Amino acid sequence: MSVGTAASPAVGARTVPNSGKLLLFYQSAIGKKAIMAVTGLIGFGFVIGHMLGNLQIFLGPEVLNGYALKLHETPVLLYGTRIVLSLAVLLHIIAAAQLTKMNRNARPDGYAKFSPIASTYASRTMRWSGPILAAFIIYHLLHFTIGSVHPNFAFQDEMRTIPAPYENAVRGFSNPFVSLFYIISMILLMLHINHGAWSLFQSLGLNHPRYTPALRTLARGASLALLIGNCSIPIAVLTGVLR
Ligand code: HEM
Repeated sequence: MSVGTAASPAVGARTVPNSGKLLLFYQSAIGKKAIMAVTGLIGFGFVIGHMLGNLQIFLGPEVLNGYALKLHETPVLLYGTRIVLSLAVLLHIIAAAQLTKMNRNARPDGYAKFSPIASTYASRTMRWSGPILAAFIIYHLLHFTIGSVHPNFAFQDEMRTIPAPYENAVRGFSNPFVSLFYIISMILLMLHINHGAWSLFQSLGLNHPRYTPALRTLARGASLALLIGNCSIPIAVLTGVLR
């Protein structure tokens, strides 16, 4: 039994302040997984909204370029999204790297023999789909937002500040290698989201006999819709549907 006075509380009775509890949670594996889940959900919300916005390309250049113009004329929305998204991606990558390190430290000798039982194909692909997707995002920003790797980047205004996404997508995806890289990245994105949803329910203990399977089916359906919706754009350019 621990004994203490009002001036010097006993060791056993010591309470951890809230800020300390938060730090302990952040440092724990479950804390990192929670960060991955929340930031992953933010990224997921963005890619769904982004795809729906991009699909307006099928409504013609006026509609897609008009949509981009509106976004660029609403700085709160544009920069708010950029800041939240950049922070989410950064925290997602940092937590992933820290979790990998924690897992490695937990078994310093590594597996004596490779055992695929505990990990699914999708979970193994997370290790390389993550870094390839990060490379895709950097290339994509240079391609369609900054335009520095785009051979023929178009703007909507004389000051050359507002990109013309319709022309940029049609010109960019006319290169089959660029389209192929996008399509491969979209397949990886689907695998990544699929497994991300699985580990979200698994690691945060959100397992409910009725709702978990339904939510997983929903995640699967959404990642398939992302694959089809996003790939439809380069395919439509390559087949001449969009020109
Ligand atoms: C074929 C599929 C895609 C197409 C056609 C596409 C198209 C575009 C275009 C045209 C822009 C520039 C918009 C502008 O500045 O007016 C853009 C920006 C962006 N895209 Fe995509 N995108 C695709 C997939 C993705 C995916 C899968 C991700 C994330 C994993 C993504 C993340 C971003 C980000 C972060 C921006 C920057 C937004 C900003 O300017 O703040 N895109 N995309």
